[in-house]
Amino acid sequence: MLEKTIEKVLVTEAEICAKSQELGQILTTAYADKNPLMVAILKGSVPFFAELTKRIDAHIEMDFMVVSSYHGGTSSSGEVKMIKDLDTSVEGRDIVIVEDIIDTGRTLLYLKELLLYRKANSVKIVTLVDKPEGRVVDIEADYVGFTLPNEFLVGFGLDYDEHYRNLPYIGILKEEIYKTEG
Ligand code: PRP
Ligand code: MN
Ligand code: MG
Repeated sequence: MLEKTIEKVLVTEAEICAKSQELGQILTTAYADKNPLMVAILKGSVPFFAELTKRIDAHIEMDFMVVSSYHGGTSSSGEVKMIKDLDTSVEGRDIVIVEDIIDTGRTLLYLKELLLYRKANSVKIVTLVDKPEGRVVDIEADYVGFTLPNEFLVGFGLDYDEHYRNLPYIGILKEEIYKTEG
């Protein structure tokens, strides 16, 4: 049913699994004995966070932040809004921010600066998708799953007006969906 609204699949479920395994192994090595605080940025990072963290074979802790900048549309509002903060103190901790996508970079710049201001020992970013053509601020992820073109993507956490996050793959929505629903 949802599949009929997808123009094209860009990253399959199997590719996401394989990439998560690869990134999980890299993080296992990089963070062995560091007990990093893995921070999921809700809501978009939920599927990738689950996929990735189960593949890290080392002690980690998990916490969650809710921030939003898109407010339902297809382009960034430019204003990052904190809706729920962390429960854990980050002072002296090694932090790994987990995101579904970095586009303009505003969300991650805001989060990284905030966590460094709070005296985190280190802040690294892992993102499932990077859209480098969308960047308006100077920030890069440390670990990237897939670099994709500047199209409006949905699935595996990525939403259009809160829908399609539950697709098990990443794809491009048919244009008629924006026209009728947007
Ligand atoms: C999306 C996405 C990233 C951010 C990336 O979140 O999940 O967090 O935008 O865009 P940027 O690089 O231009 O800042 P959104 O604000 O839509 O909230 P959501 O995760 O609840 O969908
Ligand atoms: Mn998000
Ligand atoms: Mg969104």
